[in-house]
Amino acid sequence: MKIVRTIKAVRDARRGFGDIGFVPTMGFLHGGHLSLVDLARSDCGASAVSIFVNPTQFGPHEDLSRYPRDLPRDLDLLQQVGTDLVFIPDDSELYPPGFSSRVEVGAIGDVLEGAIRPGHFSGVATIVTKLLNIVQPTRAYFGQKDAQQSIIIRKIVRDLDVPVEINVGPTLRETDGLAMSSRNVYLTQSQRANAPILYKALSAARDAFQSGVRDAALLRTKMKTALSKAEVTSVDYVSVANLATLQEMDHIDQSVLISLAVRFGSTRLIDNMVLEVS
Ligand code: PAJ
Repeated sequence: MKIVRTIKAVRDARRGFGDIGFVPTMGFLHGGHLSLVDLARSDCGASAVSIFVNPTQFGPHEDLSRYPRDLPRDLDLLQQVGTDLVFIPDDSELYPPGFSSRVEVGAIGDVLEGAIRPGHFSGVATIVTKLLNIVQPTRAYFGQKDAQQSIIIRKIVRDLDVPVEINVGPTLRETDGLAMSSRNVYLTQSQRANAPILYKALSAARDAFQSGVRDAALLRTKMKTALSKAEVTSVDYVSVANLATLQEMDHIDQSVLISLAVRFGSTRLIDNMVLEVS
């Protein structure tokens, strides 16, 4: 496993590989991240991972300074899954003095997570575009867990003709249904006990959908009712949205993304499912 810290060193190392699958991360790795590295390796024969807590995607009142970090543990895990190249830049390598350009994503970045976190997706779009230009992977891998992010990254690559294939891996969950997330470590014991309610709420909506409900408002109500049965601090949104535009639906006549964001204290958790109309 080769560990590099500069753009030049990535470019030099990259020449030694043919196809390479790339997984950008913010570290504090868990099974969800590692499943993407596995996919990258098995598809491409070699894998690259970046670890960078990207300041431009955090709002002024968000958790940038306390975002969990454990580099030795991350490197150990990456070694165990057979990662070939790890890029660990510092802030000044990616945002040197004078840096000012941004990638804008339009209306799709203003709903759901973007409505609660203004500017977040421009920050994600900017860093992912930079990382794709630096690593120049054959394929890049993102998680369904962050559905809006994955949809937006597919769109950037299409809109800006970035020469990479985007793949989306399934959400990995704990045995009680809670989606794996670096932020789960913030939860107190009792918040952790309540956290599977996100998956339960999504499952209640999915079950209603599978028994024939096509009224989006009814599915939102199912999710809200489920959430009200647990001790959540607040609900940022419950959504039944068009899979391409992420605009809210009324009658479901095509596949939809159902998603929600919930706060436990100051910790925000998100989760989603895709409901397919056959
Ligand atoms: P991070 O939250 O570290 O996630 C890195 C990748 O892992 C993302 O593609 C995310 O969707 C995926 N992932 C997270 N939890 C997952 C789970 N339970 N199952 C499967 N995949 C999961 O997302 C980011 O970092 C950043 O925004 C980034 C893309 C690196 C840009 O800074």
